[in-house]
Amino acid sequence: MKSVLNNRPLLAKQISEVAEVAGYLWQKGWAERNGGNITINITTSIDDEIRSLKPISDSIPIGRMLPHLKSGYFFCKGTNKRMRDLARRPMENGAIIRISDDCAHYEIVADCPVKPTSELASHLSMHNYLIGKGSGYKAVLHTHPIDLIAMSHNPAFLKKDVLTHLLWSMIPETRAFCPRGLGIVPYQLPGSFALADTTLKELEEYDVVMWEKHGVCAVGENIMEAFDMVDTLSKSAQIYLTAKSMGFEPEGMTMEQMNELKNAFGLPK
Ligand code: 13P
Ligand code: ZN
Repeated sequence: MKSVLNNRPLLAKQISEVAEVAGYLWQKGWAERNGGNITINITTSIDDEIRSLKPISDSIPIGRMLPHLKSGYFFCKGTNKRMRDLARRPMENGAIIRISDDCAHYEIVADCPVKPTSELASHLSMHNYLIGKGSGYKAVLHTHPIDLIAMSHNPAFLKKDVLTHLLWSMIPETRAFCPRGLGIVPYQLPGSFALADTTLKELEEYDVVMWEKHGVCAVGENIMEAFDMVDTLSKSAQIYLTAKSMGFEPEGMTMEQMNELKNAFGLPK
């Protein structure tokens, strides 16, 4: 099949990583139906030939101006598309979009006219924020991990950094590999700019945020890194829930033990 991925190994590798992670999300049970979405900033992998491609959709308003996205390119999971299908056929269940010069519209350029995810407002706002602060992060992942979402139904866990410290204390890996912790975004309508804006605020401090009673959102240099952080947090949540189901409150590592890790690994927080 004719695809912009042909003879573009760099772009093909980025998209195959998206497909690999989409498969993990399905295997984990985090991706019921069309649950979750992925976008990747692929602007640096785009060549003149792709830049000159005719759009295969209308020019669609984003709903706000995102100045740092000017003429940028993103691969986006399609709305209503399933992760398990994205895993097998990424270019039929997602699309490459180009942001217009006015920074307020996008058009689909390849391979198929697949409408981007309904969470595009949040995803593009996050990419805009990341570029604006000079971050090299290129991936945004939103997914529905059962254990973490279950924890967000307890108001006590939604107070600032309660879950961060609890999940950090379950296993050293979480302290080391999710060093900025877990931000909390109170429930907002999926797909809304209100959700996008509260998420942006939390990104100032965290790389992974909980969308209360909905899912988590993670940003990273690439999609594998974003996935690994959510996976590590979910592992901690499972250790906590397993201990609780055995009838006891897990002791957790002490503050001293966690600070020792912070110093040993040179962690940012
Ligand atoms: P989309 O299918 O539009 O990506 O939506 C899935 C989702 O998880 C919404 O929050
Ligand atoms: Zn969702």
